[in-house]
Amino acid sequence: MVRTKIAVLVSGGGTNLQALLDAQRAGELPLGEISLVASHNPGAFALERARGAGIEAAVLALPAGAEFEAALQALLIEKGVELIVLAGFLRILSENFTNKWPRRILNIHPALIPAFCGEGFYGLAVHEAALARGVKLTGATVHFVNEIPDGGEIIAQRAVAVLPGDSPESLQRRVMEEAEWILLPQAVAEISKAIAEEKGGSAHV
Ligand code: GRF
Repeated sequence: MVRTKIAVLVSGGGTNLQALLDAQRAGELPLGEISLVASHNPGAFALERARGAGIEAAVLALPAGAEFEAALQALLIEKGVELIVLAGFLRILSENFTNKWPRRILNIHPALIPAFCGEGFYGLAVHEAALARGVKLTGATVHFVNEIPDGGEIIAQRAVAVLPGDSPESLQRRVMEEAEWILLPQAVAEISKAIAEEKGGSAHV
């Protein structure tokens, strides 16, 4: 069966990208292939992680907007990408872009959607909001991306306990370790398998 070509879009450190690269090396993405990592931020450490793993790292150093999205779209098509994973990607993609990739863009969000999500809820702000509200459980969500920030269909969720004395930083770390880095590779494996099977379906008739 032909593996699904995956692009990972990143903005910063790339620990979620690292979890995907580790999963790929361990054979845990059997029907997916990370073939491209792209960023708007030339300084994103995630790009170093990609290069270290021998994967093409592309920089589209353009401001957010139509020109950036057009360049991204052209690159994705040129590389034959079939699935896009947003892994710590801090730009909101327009409806014009997301409409071109229905159920083909995944995002990881560091909370249990519909809690603490939507515009402005990224990075530490998510965990600050969870602590301020006093929730005892938080977690991570992988979902399809549509035109509504964090509003697409939910694919998978994993809960994480909030502990007494947690700071936004300690909670962020626990959510990454106990949820994000496990959930994202699992979801990418599942969706890339579904796409590969869809393509390869006729081969089994
Ligand atoms: C993660 O918490 C992710 O859920 C969120 O942004 C953070 C990115 O971290 N969308 P990293 O770049 O993967 O280390």
